[in-house]
Amino acid sequence: MSLKDMFERLEKLNAQAELGGGEKRIAKQHESGKLTARERINLLLDEGSFIEMDKFVTHRCTDFGMEKQKIPGDGVVTGFGTINGRKIYIFAQDFTIFGGSLSGAYAEKVVKIMDLAMKHGVPLIGLNDSGGARIQEGVVSLGGYADIFLRNTLASGVIPQISVIMGPCAGGAVYSPAITDFIIMVKKTSYMFITGPEVIKAVTHEDVTKEELGGAIAHSTKSGVCHLAGEDEKESLGMVRELLSFIPQNNADDPPYEPTDDDPLREDEALNEVVPDNPNKPYDIKEIINSVAYDRYFFEVQEHFAPNIIIGFMRLGGHSVGVVANQPAHLAGVLDIDASIKGGRFVRFCDAFNIPLIVFEDVPGFLPGLDQEYGGIIKHGAKLLYAFCEATVPKLTVITRKSYGGAYCVMNSKHIRADFNFAYPTSEIAVMGPDGAVNIIFRNELKESDDPVTRKDELVADFRDKFSNPYKAAELGYVDEVIMPQQTRPRLIRALEMSMTKRDSNPPKKHGNIPL
Ligand code: HXC
Repeated sequence: MSLKDMFERLEKLNAQAELGGGEKRIAKQHESGKLTARERINLLLDEGSFIEMDKFVTHRCTDFGMEKQKIPGDGVVTGFGTINGRKIYIFAQDFTIFGGSLSGAYAEKVVKIMDLAMKHGVPLIGLNDSGGARIQEGVVSLGGYADIFLRNTLASGVIPQISVIMGPCAGGAVYSPAITDFIIMVKKTSYMFITGPEVIKAVTHEDVTKEELGGAIAHSTKSGVCHLAGEDEKESLGMVRELLSFIPQNNADDPPYEPTDDDPLREDEALNEVVPDNPNKPYDIKEIINSVAYDRYFFEVQEHFAPNIIIGFMRLGGHSVGVVANQPAHLAGVLDIDASIKGGRFVRFCDAFNIPLIVFEDVPGFLPGLDQEYGGIIKHGAKLLYAFCEATVPKLTVITRKSYGGAYCVMNSKHIRADFNFAYPTSEIAVMGPDGAVNIIFRNELKESDDPVTRKDELVADFRDKFSNPYKAAELGYVDEVIMPQQTRPRLIRALEMSMTKRDSNPPKKHGNIPL
């Protein structure tokens, strides 16, 4: 064979592989509003940066006439490249080849880049669009999934793992994305479920569409499985790029630092007006977050799930930080099961990846109720507490108003190793609200009073004056400084700068036993 022939052979093979399942299936993919695996990679990665690996791998199945149907690449495109100059490994399931279903050889391709991502300390991104286990391969396919699940688990907390769901993702296959750090879905064209509508109909007689059951809206609002949802594939992939800009390459790396032209001493007098003087009046904590953030920009995660707690990323003095904030505008910012799980997992992500935590606190306590108690608020609330206790990254708290009861301890109090705790003059730090407190400790006096209503008002005012303010906590050093709201940004930046060299650790152990 001449050199020319050899080169032409490679060119032909490359062209064949790049055509995936063929023009017809590519057209079908486009008709259903989806891009192909390679188109998605090109959209996500920096132009020309993608290097494909294992392009010529084919399956080894000899049953059901499969030996006659071999397509180079075998349903998944794998390789590496860059996003905003940052190195990443990526796999993209190719629905045009056997519906993107996973064979043994396909699993080996994915496992290969997962192992490399771990060895090189580089984030892993998975674009999911697959009919699940390759039916013709039986247990070989199931074994392949298990090989991937193991690596997802071992990589957890070592390298960031991001999953984008861009088509079907059903059955046990959901557990690979589920173990990863973030799940991003595409509205209308993606869905995730353990069992589909037909099985549900047969077992529980419930009628539900695929979209209602496992679409992006369902998982963003009801289950909390989805962290971010894009209107279309382009927007969803844009979210990956943005998310990466806040997180480091691996757990031994620092998050990206971006020099900033936003004055670190910038005060905002408008903040003095945000917390209302009536303690029962709601306000939007995002006004404070946005004011403090670089460029007033806050990248919110899980926005539509448990909106009584807010999580996301922003930049402060050039540093990427994770924000956890109670939201008084929703359920008065109370902590319930969903909010605790949402907050706890985010705190653990930030801690695993050296991202400092900033907490804005206005919390009346944990949500009372039978549903909450039977649902396990004890163990779920403990997740958030455990996560804050265990976190060794720089941890700063701003108490804007209520800080009551157990929630005082949980929301990054000084006692659980917060570095700096600030409080606004509007803060109320106490075992419970004045109304509840007076009802309990002055029960007898109120019963015997000739005018219990007036007496109660007096007692409540007295209690508020004595206990529902930040000064008792400040006297004890539980709050480091009572600040004017307008000072929030400069104080946080100074405190963050001080704590960036923090060294803290937990006792050596195999692992803790977070209440799951
Ligand atoms: C082999 C598959 C396949 C699979 C799809 N295909 N799923 N081949 N194994 N699991 C093939 C189809 O035969 C078809 O081939 C092509 O992919 C496209 O599929 P269509 O059905 O034409 O596409 P569409 O109408 O869009 O429907 C997509 C789908 C459907 C909803 C995903 O294909 C489907 O229900 N597939 C089976 C899903 C499933 O039950 N998987 C196993 C789940 S259990 P041609 O040649 O016609 O183009 C599982 C367990 C994982 O995954 C366990 C982990 C522990």
